[in-house]
Amino acid sequence: MTADVPKEIEKVIISEQEIAAKVAELAKQVDADYVGKEILLVGVLKGAVMFMADFARALRTPVSMEFMAVSSYGSSTSSSGVVRILKDLDRDIVDKHVVVVEDVIDSGLTLSWLLKNMGSRQPASIEVVALLRKPDAARVDVPVKYVGFDIPSDFVVGYGLDYAERYRDLPFVGLLRPEVYAVRP
Ligand code: IMP
Ligand code: MG
Repeated sequence: MTADVPKEIEKVIISEQEIAAKVAELAKQVDADYVGKEILLVGVLKGAVMFMADFARALRTPVSMEFMAVSSYGSSTSSSGVVRILKDLDRDIVDKHVVVVEDVIDSGLTLSWLLKNMGSRQPASIEVVALLRKPDAARVDVPVKYVGFDIPSDFVVGYGLDYAERYRDLPFVGLLRPEVYAVRP
C-alpha cells in the first residue's frame, strides 16, 4: 500500500512499511525484557499517538496506557528548553514498570525533564522507547533504551509529527519542504 504524498513533502524518509517492521521489532525487544511483568505505557501527546497505538498493539506484554502532554516548542521548529505540563497523568505510577513512548528526541530537553519528573513519582522502573532520534540528542545525557531510527537533524513530519498541527495523519515520516516553514517564526 502506497500513500499519496502531499506536495509540501520533499521526500519520504521512512515508509509506512519500514515503520511497521520497526514497531514489530521494538515490541519484540520490549516483550523479551518484560517477561512476567505488566507495562504502563506513557505516551507523550500529541506526537506519540500513532506510534503508541501501533506499539501497544504489537506488544504481547499486558499494558495499560496513560498520556501526558507537555509543551516545549509552540509551533516553531527549534527547542526552547522550557517545558510546561499541559496535561498530567490521570493516576499515580507508584510501583509500575513505566515505558515512556516518544515520537522523536531532538535536543533531548523534553525527555530529560520528563524523566526527572516521572522518576520522582516512585515507579518500579522507567525506560524510554523513541521512534526517532536526532544527532543532537547525544549531547544531553538521556538514557533511551529503545530507539527506532536515527535520523539527521532536519525537521520531519508525519506519523504523529506535526508542523503547526498539520501532517500528523501522514502514514510515513517525510521531510517538509523548507519553504513551508521558512516564512513563519
Ligand atoms: P526536544 O526537547 O528538542 O528533544 O524535542 C522533543 C519534541 O519536539 C518532540 O516530542 C516533538 O514534539 C518536537 N520535535 C522535535 N523534532 C521534530 C521534528 O522534526 N518534527 C516535528 N516535531 C519535532
Ligand atoms: Mg510537536
